[in-house]
Amino acid sequence: MLSVLESAAKLGNIKENDYISLKYPEKELQVSLPIVMDDGSVKVFEGYRVQHSNVRGAYKGGIRYHQDADLDEVKALAAWMSFKCAIADIPYGGGKGGIKVDPATLSKGELERLTRTYTAAIAPIIGPDKDIPAPDVNTNGEIMGWIVDTYSKITGKYQPGVVTGKPAVLGGSLGRPEATGRGCMLAARELMKRENKTLKGLRVSIQGNGNVGGIAAQLLHDEGAIIVAISDVSGAVFNPKGLDITNILKFSRERKLLKDYGDPTFLGGKEGNHALLTVDCDMLLPAALENQITAENAMQIRAKYIVEGANGPTTVEADKILNERGVIIVPDVLANAGGVIVSYFEWLQNLSCYYWSLEEVNAKLEVQMVKAFANVYNTAVSLKSTYRM
Ligand SMILES: NC(=O)c1ccc[n+]([C@@H]2O[C@H](COP(=O)([O-])OP(=O)(O)OC[C@H]3O[C@@H](n4cnc5c(N)ncnc54)[C@H](O)[C@@H]3O)[C@@H](O)[C@H]2O)c1
Repeated sequence: MLSVLESAAKLGNIKENDYISLKYPEKELQVSLPIVMDDGSVKVFEGYRVQHSNVRGAYKGGIRYHQDADLDEVKALAAWMSFKCAIADIPYGGGKGGIKVDPATLSKGELERLTRTYTAAIAPIIGPDKDIPAPDVNTNGEIMGWIVDTYSKITGKYQPGVVTGKPAVLGGSLGRPEATGRGCMLAARELMKRENKTLKGLRVSIQGNGNVGGIAAQLLHDEGAIIVAISDVSGAVFNPKGLDITNILKFSRERKLLKDYGDPTFLGGKEGNHALLTVDCDMLLPAALENQITAENAMQIRAKYIVEGANGPTTVEADKILNERGVIIVPDVLANAGGVIVSYFEWLQNLSCYYWSLEEVNAKLEVQMVKAFANVYNTAVSLKSTYRM
């Protein structure tokens, strides 16, 4: 985060005095969370909430539950949120939270008690006009519901606007679950426009078929793109003429893995992942995990375009190699901003108690993504730089 910030500032001729404060988070809170486990023992978990910057508005950013979460990671992610919200031109700053825990090892009751204890611990610094968390890795709408409930009890009034990413019945926005994938499709479409092309016939390989990758795959397919490869945690399937993406996603939605799809092209493990990233295609859409495109595979990537659906899928070394090779990358802070844009819409709906139709949400998302893309593109052209810079 710091190295990209320094390079971008140099490129933009920005004096250190004018950005030095962005190198440091404004506030860091670390909390200890004692939880009574189902067997009667007490375990203490470590939680964090980092508030990077609120110069543009309330802090905004997700909460992740992961065994590798630590303060340094949360600090970097909080800073990226400040930049993402600025690029999307929504009136938020950046924040991020986390708990060091593998949620798969907890019972549902333990997970709920942990979430409620964490909410109580960070309650003094969050709120609809202060800091608005959301789901991230291993957290979901149900967990957001527990946060709303706990925060509302502590403050003595119903406050759905304290988090976004809630289920629709608890004040969530229509279109929020699809928003990130839809934003990726729009970013791909806008990129193609700049290249005097359209999505029609564009051959795309997609890593991950979950919330981001799956939705993006379907929407790109609907716009006439040819999905030549898609993967999940079990492996990848391929067809240079185009996969039956509607059928594959229907299969995956039933919580089944691609290895059981029965496609003879299925390739599992590291081999499948490598083949998916290096397959002959026009566009690569990583939408699974961080650090997937590395110095080891960057030379073999055949795509001319990369749209980063995931957060941080390209390492700094790979980014350099791909830039030298002329591969055009739409970075995560732009490509996957659709999620936080509709989170902003959700918050507006909560504050006004007036709920929008799906068509209205999607139309407003498109306006915001197209504007953000144009701003980044025009800046990159005028500075003769990459989109990420
Ligand atoms: N959901 C959002 O609104 C949102 C917003 C911004 C960024 N992101 C980022 O997008 C990425 C994907 O998030 P999501 O919400 O789609 O998650 P998800 O859990 O719905 O889907 C993740 C997908 O990745 C696959 N996967 C997991 N491990 C893998 C592995 N080792 N190799 C290959 N594939 C693997 C899973 O099988 C699944 O298909 C993450 O980096 C996330 O931070 C998500």
